[in-house]
Amino acid sequence: MTTQRQVILDTDPGIDDALAILLAVASPEIELVAVTVTGGNCPLEQGVENALAVLDTVDASAPVVPGVALPLIRPPFTAPETHGNTGLGNANLPAARRNPAPDHAIDVIVRQIMEAEAPATLVAVAPLTNVALALRREPRIVERVHEVIVMGGAFDVPGNTTPLAEFNVYVDPHAAYIVLHSGLPLTIVPWDITSKVLLTQEHVDLLLRTSSPVTRFIADATSFYIDFHRQYFGYAGCSINDPVALALAFQPELAQYTDVFVDVEIDSPKSMGKTIADVQQIWKRPANARLVTSFDDAAFLALFMERMTHLAQRHPGPV
Ligand code: BDR
Ligand code: CA
Repeated sequence: MTTQRQVILDTDPGIDDALAILLAVASPEIELVAVTVTGGNCPLEQGVENALAVLDTVDASAPVVPGVALPLIRPPFTAPETHGNTGLGNANLPAARRNPAPDHAIDVIVRQIMEAEAPATLVAVAPLTNVALALRREPRIVERVHEVIVMGGAFDVPGNTTPLAEFNVYVDPHAAYIVLHSGLPLTIVPWDITSKVLLTQEHVDLLLRTSSPVTRFIADATSFYIDFHRQYFGYAGCSINDPVALALAFQPELAQYTDVFVDVEIDSPKSMGKTIADVQQIWKRPANARLVTSFDDAAFLALFMERMTHLAQRHPGPV
């Protein structure tokens, strides 16, 4: 077998974050070396508890490392209407069986990148606060990391949090600014792409044919998420944004990309967090990101269903 790519997942679990954690555990191409957490969809402590509880469901032992609770400058902004009061929709997982790592996410991101034998990939599916501060702590991660895959931004579609801005960027636009201007090898998969990747009730019903706490969790978490997407966006299913970013760590061929200069608005209240891609090179700035321009939704959903079914089969039990 070829060597597994080491992956650090920076997350704010979060229903689709939880699905990204499960996809990471279910994917033999990668080794999930750390789950680092920041405040976002829910407050930091809740997100840490959620990450631990989700990993317990599949007996996975990746360290869960608390990071920064608050955005760099702006006040905290959570999303209970999207992810429910606990962050995991209608799911009711048992309390976590283990403790978070006695470490800080910023140090773990730096250490995992700087000390990895083969360059590691960082998948960032939350406000970018931890990543920005890791850059400040150790700027040389720019040269050492294999790739940083960011789920964030809304370019040619309305935002999902303000008319212009996507959640992860809106919550900490200053952190996004630091990351975009850092020189990190960025791949960005925006809301333009991920909002169309819909897990439907039919998908969930298919998963439920395998009796397992894994499928029970997915059904309970996504029932809330599907209702939210129906009410707010009129979608027939829920956008599973974060697993899309995770999948690109080992199946980059699912997407097509363009190299482009990307920036973020941090000055204007009305457009705070709006991301801009200078596709016509009007600003004459070198590209700082590889932006996903199209994505094979069907192939990804087939992969996701296959991996979740297999994971459930490995963890059978009453639903
Ligand atoms: C992003 O915002 C969060 O609510 C999701 O977990 C995802 O990371 C989508 O805009
Ligand atoms: Ca997220």
